[in-house]
Amino acid sequence: MSLLKEINAEITNIIKEVGYDEEITLLPSNRKDLGDYQINDAMTLAKKYHKNPHLIAEDIKKALEEDSRFKNINIAGPGFINISLSDDYLVTLLNSISKDITINIDKKPPKKIILDYGGANVAKALHVGHLRSADIGEALKRLARLLGYEVLGDAHLGDYGRPLGLVILEIKKRYPNLAYFDSSYTGDYHEITLPITNADLEEIYPFASAKSKEDENYLEEAREITYKLQNHERGYYDLWQKIISISKKDIKEVYDALNVDFDLWQGESDAMEYYEELKNIVEKENILVNSNNAQIIEVKKDTDKAPMPPLLFIKSNGSISYETTDLATILQREKKYHPDEIWYCVDGRQELHFEQVFRAARLAKLIPPTTILEHIGFGTMNGKDGKPFKTRDGSVMTLKNLIKLVTEETYKRLNPDITDEEEKQQIATTVAIAALKYADFLPFRATDFVFEVEKFADLEGKTGPYLLYSTIRMKSLLNKADIPFSKIHTLNGQTEKEIALTILNLPTILDKSLEIKSLNDISEYLYKLTSLYNKFYAENKVLTEENIHLKESWLTLTKIVYDINNLLLDILGIKVPKKM
Ligand code: ARG
Repeated sequence: MSLLKEINAEITNIIKEVGYDEEITLLPSNRKDLGDYQINDAMTLAKKYHKNPHLIAEDIKKALEEDSRFKNINIAGPGFINISLSDDYLVTLLNSISKDITINIDKKPPKKIILDYGGANVAKALHVGHLRSADIGEALKRLARLLGYEVLGDAHLGDYGRPLGLVILEIKKRYPNLAYFDSSYTGDYHEITLPITNADLEEIYPFASAKSKEDENYLEEAREITYKLQNHERGYYDLWQKIISISKKDIKEVYDALNVDFDLWQGESDAMEYYEELKNIVEKENILVNSNNAQIIEVKKDTDKAPMPPLLFIKSNGSISYETTDLATILQREKKYHPDEIWYCVDGRQELHFEQVFRAARLAKLIPPTTILEHIGFGTMNGKDGKPFKTRDGSVMTLKNLIKLVTEETYKRLNPDITDEEEKQQIATTVAIAALKYADFLPFRATDFVFEVEKFADLEGKTGPYLLYSTIRMKSLLNKADIPFSKIHTLNGQTEKEIALTILNLPTILDKSLEIKSLNDISEYLYKLTSLYNKFYAENKVLTEENIHLKESWLTLTKIVYDINNLLLDILGIKVPKKM
């Protein structure tokens, strides 16, 4: 149990002894001049015991004043109690955390979660729009695990549908003699070398997609090929598998660079094994309706204020929609993993899609009624023009190019003493990822934000590089320590006290972040703790301090802050380089 919860429990006991039975909550005060914490429960108790809240607050104050762990107890307004922790008590609390900061974290009752994030599409370059899903999804996965959930992260590859048909059609146009297209070929397709790299694929898809918009015949051919693929036709299906393996390798590299990794690499196509069963279920539940040759599911409710179009289950041309791949995926996940919750960390612009899918899943009873389905939507990263960030010529910015762009900025700001070119590049990339991720996490997840590379890469603002730089400096201070240290003896002055209170508040921040499924509070917290620490660092000369007890206290405090920074940066999926 976190220390704050323990203190809560103890105060609850103390006031129980004076006759009030109510679980109280110690809230960090927003009026630090009045006290570090505040207890507002006298109002609730007043109702419960039909007594003036001020009198109750008086009783509580008297009881708490007898306990040397608390100080400066005063009552404000009708019965708000302000209270501070004594310095000795704060020291005791910090020392209990110093060995292992995770003892100050509250675990949740266990739950099994499938987290659908990443969402890369095969044969298409990962672009700016995929960044936030990867960043936020990965961080939520790590946070939920830290707090005790079992989480399976699934990349949910987009490997199904017309884009793949288009890519294969264009390959066929360019290399008509490939054995994949030769129906008389009886050999092993694994022996064929495909003259196509991932870079080619990234060029082929936009080309084919543009062409299909102008050329009706081309589009029709692509549809036919898509149909062949979906029916696992020999040759086409083998080429599809080959393309997936080329593309997946590249996708993995980008995710690796982002420090993002998945437990499952299921694709939309894997869920299609459940399609027949899904179809039987929706037919049996009688929710499939014929509409102009298409099959739809009505998901409207009487209470809807906004329009709610039906879910398109099978299109009029017989092909299967994105919605249906998601329904089949829910069935697959339920059968294979029986999760308590499924979270979808996907662009907020897909909100309607998920609402339709979730409603249809409930109508078809694909999951038990208690299973939670949640779309964790997020805003876009925009350019200065307020539109999703693009390249200079207005085309989609690939994730690789974006990382390169930020790396050029962080490179310029590295310590000139780092001379090994390869090492310097590596560090610049690590810092660039930190810059991007931190900027991504700072606003509440659903908010859009503007890409400003100089601001993100700055060593001195509220930025990833500032946090890394400061954390590295803490580490270097600890490495230089010439005395053993394991204990805080005293807290000296206001800054240290504020650091102590901020440390105690960590579990509250973690809980709230998981509750709202956003990383903004953790990001702000990291900045606050780090800035406070840097203030302390500027105020004191730790390494040359002659008073051994003071020096030991300072080193131990540094160690706790360093450990928390490392823990939280790791939750955010941000790596700390050794130097920068
Ligand atoms: N591949 C999709 C896209 O790029 C995202 C997939 C999100 N996950 C899902 N289960 N639909 O838009």
